[in-house]
Amino acid sequence: MPPGTPILRSAYQPLAYTVATVDLDFHLDPKATQVTSRLQCVRNEDAPAGPIVLFGDTLELVSLTIDGAAPADGQLRHTDSGLEIDVSADSVALEIVTRIDPSANLTLSGLYQSRGGFFTQCEAEGFRRITYFPDRPDVMARFTVRLEADAATCPVLLSNGNLLETGALPNGRHFARWEDPFLKPSYLFALVAADLKALERKVDTMSGREVLLQVWVEARDLDRVSHAMDSLVHSLRWDEEVFGLELDLDRFMIVAVSDFNMGAMENKGLNIFNTKYVLANPDTGTDLDFENVESVVAHEYFHNWTGNRVTCRDWFQLTLKEGLTVFRDQQFTADMMARASDSPAAAASARAVTRIANVRGLRAGQFPEDAGPMAHPIRPDSYQEINNFYTATVYQKGAEVIRMLLTLLGREGFRNGMDLYFSYHDGQAVTCDDFVGCMAEANGVDLDLFMRWYSQAGTPHLKAEGAWDAAAGSYTLTLSQHTPPTAGQPDKLPLHIPVAVGLIGPDGADLPLVLAGEAGPGDTTRVLELKEASRSWTFTGLSAEPVPSLLRGFSAPVILDIAESDERLAFRMAFDADPFNRWDAGQRYMERVILALAADAAAGRPLEVPQAFGHAFRALLIDDSLDAAFVAEALALPSEAYLLDRLQPADPAPLRAALIHLTRALGLAMKADFLSRYLDLEVDGEYRYHPLDAGKRALRNQCLRYLTAAGSATAIDLATKQFEHAGNMTERYGALAALVQSDAPARVGALEAFHQRYMGDALVLDKWFQLQAGAWRWSDAAPDTLAQVQALMANPAFSLSNPNKVYALLGGYFKANPAEFHRADGAGYAFWAEQVIALDRNNPQVASRMARALEGWRKFTPEIQARIRPALEKVAATEGISPDVAEIVGKALS
Ligand code: ARG
Ligand code: ZN
Repeated sequence: MPPGTPILRSAYQPLAYTVATVDLDFHLDPKATQVTSRLQCVRNEDAPAGPIVLFGDTLELVSLTIDGAAPADGQLRHTDSGLEIDVSADSVALEIVTRIDPSANLTLSGLYQSRGGFFTQCEAEGFRRITYFPDRPDVMARFTVRLEADAATCPVLLSNGNLLETGALPNGRHFARWEDPFLKPSYLFALVAADLKALERKVDTMSGREVLLQVWVEARDLDRVSHAMDSLVHSLRWDEEVFGLELDLDRFMIVAVSDFNMGAMENKGLNIFNTKYVLANPDTGTDLDFENVESVVAHEYFHNWTGNRVTCRDWFQLTLKEGLTVFRDQQFTADMMARASDSPAAAASARAVTRIANVRGLRAGQFPEDAGPMAHPIRPDSYQEINNFYTATVYQKGAEVIRMLLTLLGREGFRNGMDLYFSYHDGQAVTCDDFVGCMAEANGVDLDLFMRWYSQAGTPHLKAEGAWDAAAGSYTLTLSQHTPPTAGQPDKLPLHIPVAVGLIGPDGADLPLVLAGEAGPGDTTRVLELKEASRSWTFTGLSAEPVPSLLRGFSAPVILDIAESDERLAFRMAFDADPFNRWDAGQRYMERVILALAADAAAGRPLEVPQAFGHAFRALLIDDSLDAAFVAEALALPSEAYLLDRLQPADPAPLRAALIHLTRALGLAMKADFLSRYLDLEVDGEYRYHPLDAGKRALRNQCLRYLTAAGSATAIDLATKQFEHAGNMTERYGALAALVQSDAPARVGALEAFHQRYMGDALVLDKWFQLQAGAWRWSDAAPDTLAQVQALMANPAFSLSNPNKVYALLGGYFKANPAEFHRADGAGYAFWAEQVIALDRNNPQVASRMARALEGWRKFTPEIQARIRPALEKVAATEGISPDVAEIVGKALS
């Protein structure tokens, strides 16, 4: 198959031979690792006849025998993707020996080295870089593994499942044998051989079985793992309580590694994590880091059931496990936040704050993806490189689709559907249809129309219009939907959209909702199901015109178009009983103000912030009855990435001017209020990661940001003091972030002090790199961010082969700093092309992620597009470019 040929979902075929058992033997050596694989291949009754198909990628084949004998003439064929073997028996034993060079493997896929240890990453197609195998998720087998390595450099030898035996060998080597009692696909295989230490804990599962939990890290990091261990215990309990799902192994291990392409990986019983999502203590991790560790630990742990026990038939079904598992980790986080609250109202607000963070992420990351050349349904129909489809759409929008099922079926109905799913499919590799089928069967409902969410790409627009009939005391709400065309999908059909609705009375209180023909009293929030292009609902028994509050809790991943006056937005900012919508009213108002300012900036008109907006904003700032975390979210502007997409055509410079102007104007106008909240919010006592404290710190840092944006000497002084006296990373980092955007001399000193203090600390230095790459100045001084980023690349702590460094510095610049990256001379694009090409030589997955920074180039003004095109063309024309990057730039240019 020539490169660039798409793989089609419709082309799925089961393999003629699958594998019953796998016995692997690893002689680990940095340059020449020998892998012996003994497979029992069995004829698949459900598949058409054919050869044994084994995939292999960059392998050296040392030997292969079939039932103990050398292959006959013509029996073994080498193909583009691996090997084919003709056999006639129903069951055949293969022994395959391959040799690989982990030290030269910079792709971080397959078996590779990091800081002297050996680690694996097999999802999606890394196992075929270790040995020849039918490396597809629909081949589930029983694995046993023997590892041997140098005892001094690799004292710890881990693999999936249960440890059977360890022992010493001659020449300073040692070995371990592991057995995984569960069937698994090859992408869940893992091994680790390294110099690590474990934090251990023993807990009893719900059925009273004692299990051993371990978090393995380098010895120097042992003072940063207790939070990950606590998170693991919380996750284990939550899955028992909420879904009745128990840990099925006697031992569950988490291993941290510094070189890792993604966040973490759910290998059976042996989760391997990017250090970023394991290590956190008060001095090195912010509240956000603590929160991320907790949610990623939960995510990978939850995969044990949603992903491992029931896995995907093929990679097109990826959202089956990822959308569902993101949904589960989001629910877990919301529950953990709510549990830490001291009243029901605080719990509701805490849940809303979690929801707000989820939706912010969706709008900033998924909406632009869904509007560009990489737009795809949560279950794609084709791909060129599967690693390019671990996307915001598959993960985040996929989670929204699961959440809609919960909204439509209710808690109990959803749980019944989950129970049925496990009862039917435990131990199987299945499809999204199987999952939704269980939801439908368990609830006796028809979800055929709902399945369109799995096949249709693009963000739907939901238009709402209300008509008030004073004489009848009724309000008619008309909802219509429209999904714009996306690449390869010109025509869209109506979707099944749950719309949670409330009506607010003139006094700000919610009204009972009674539809025409119903008897009251009704609930104050109801879910309307829009299944057609347009439909109306009439609410009766109203004494005054209500203000609609639509899509409460963000009940569907759509863009809501509704004509709302500024007054209505301010009213909902003050009164909407749904905290998510209260926040969203503010976001909509901000968006309107920012887009108007950007238009003024583009036209060279003077910029002025409407007074009414200032009033509505200030009302939230000074309301100390509100939860601090909520206020921090309410005062934060919509993300630049989201706003860029809302500006048509997109133009980063005037948008940046608008954001700077608005932030400064608010900081200046409400200086005294920001200052008094800042002073009131100080958290006393020793740092603890707790949502209530984290909320206060977040709001405090938010106030500091507005104050320093306004630029007074007092504000710089406050920030400097906070930086110098900070008792934890959240405060230290918050102060540094505020100072970095100022022109005050304290800026340079703080950056230097931070660098000095954390010189030997890779994860903390990532923050230092990222902050500088993503920063701009509140003043009109033009920082040469590009020159700065280039200079930082020469810092000895920077390395192009460490993904975290690349994401922090280059990602910080390409993705988090649009106005600087899109500088008018086009130098940002030339730098982008140069870096993408350089990265691609070693690590196509990382290169491709950076390449994606320009995929949405057609949303920009024609002048900007003209400057971007040559950079895209240069990368596309580069000889030997990986399929990963070729797919991204190819789709961008087509
Ligand atoms: N399954 C992992 C997760 O928890 C992601 C691994 C993806 N890795 C990759 N190279 N594509 O979400
Ligand atoms: Zn996942």
